[in-house]
Amino acid sequence: MTGRAVPPRVVAAQCAASEAGFTKSCTPEVGRLLRLAAAAKPHGIIAESGTGSGVGTAWLHSGLGSRARLTTAEHDVVLARRAAGLFADDDRVHVLAGDWRLLEQHAPFDVFFCDGGGKRDDPERVVDLLAPGGLLILDDFTPSPHWPPRFDGEVDELRTFYLTHPSLDATEILTTPVSSAVVGARRL
Ligand SMILES: C[S@@+](CC[C@H](N)C(=O)[O-])C[C@H]1O[C@@H](n2cnc3c(N)ncnc32)[C@H](O)[C@@H]1O
Repeated sequence: MTGRAVPPRVVAAQCAASEAGFTKSCTPEVGRLLRLAAAAKPHGIIAESGTGSGVGTAWLHSGLGSRARLTTAEHDVVLARRAAGLFADDDRVHVLAGDWRLLEQHAPFDVFFCDGGGKRDDPERVVDLLAPGGLLILDDFTPSPHWPPRFDGEVDELRTFYLTHPSLDATEILTTPVSSAVVGARRL
């Protein structure tokens, strides 16, 4: 699967989201970033907080190495059960129904897409859970021309936290002209 094609499992997850009325799935632009990150860690422990309908999980899965592991946690048990069904044929993937902290038993992570739980409520723990060299991906930011970045007229303290964390080499990248993601690598 290369270029701009959308992997079949992502299409299946998008259909599941549409049927469930779930509107918070990641965009294809973020999805391609997730695939890249998973592919960069072919033996990696890959984690996602906030499975939703499994769209981000499916993008991560599209870059997953044969010896990698992907664990995702979703506290809405109905969403978790449906998403688990999308990956039932692949024992590299585990969908946990419950709070994102269930992921901790699988840490340290080589890739962590922190998308539901952790990002705002325990950012220091999010960084702690990364392996040396591990990649952290956080999406859904609004690009800002200011430093420190601002959102709604205020300094975006959360974004600044990740971008300046002493254990991370982090940067912000545009995913579309109006949205951005923070990507960080845990220092060795
Ligand atoms: C932005 S959506 C996830 C989208 C998905 N990662 C994707 O890329 O398609 C956030 C999800 O996180 C879940 N969530 C929120 N807080 C959580 C927590 N503390 N633990 C686990 N899941 C949580 C929500 O139920 C929601 O489904």
